[in-house]
Amino acid sequence: MSETILELQDLRTHFPITKGVLLRRTVGTVKAVDGVNLKVKQGEVLGLVGESGCGKSTLARAIMQLVPTTSGNVILEGRNLTTSSTGQILDLRRDLQMVFQDPYASLNPRMTVFATLAEPLLVHKICGPKDVAPTGGRN
Ligand SMILES: Nc1ncnc2c1ncn2[C@@H]1O[C@H](COP(=O)(O)OP(=O)(O)OP(=O)(O)O)[C@@H](O)[C@H]1O
Ligand SMILES: [Mg+2]
Repeated sequence: MSETILELQDLRTHFPITKGVLLRRTVGTVKAVDGVNLKVKQGEVLGLVGESGCGKSTLARAIMQLVPTTSGNVILEGRNLTTSSTGQILDLRRDLQMVFQDPYASLNPRMTVFATLAEPLLVHKICGPKDVAPTGGRN
């Protein structure tokens, strides 16, 4: 039997609906992800299909720990991401990649190609600032 790479256990991400500017109060909850259980084994490809707004992107973001999980567990290669520290999550992000559906919104138009490529190398400390300094004044 092949190894389980990713397991979601009763995963929930709920967003509060707030009202008011000064006295902000919660008037409801959007249950974007509400009790998802699944396993992805090595070599498997999982497709998630559903109507717009059913929570597909939120589920992907919850797996990546880009949105807070309300409850449940995300277990990647035996490590529980929901209980991992920020530092541990940062390390894991080297191996996790999200490819956004809108190609025009995937890159920051205010950043040069050089800065876009340099940023992950700096964030993950693969290179220092000197290593990614532009040469010849062109970037
Ligand atoms: N940060 C947020 N705060 C509040 N509500 C949110 C937030 N992100 C998503 N939602 C809500 O959660 C629900 C699920 O949204 P999500 O973007 O995950 O859907 P989707 O299945 O990816 O839709 P689409 O197919 O259009 O991409 C929607 O009702 C959305 O408005
Ligand atoms: Mg989406």
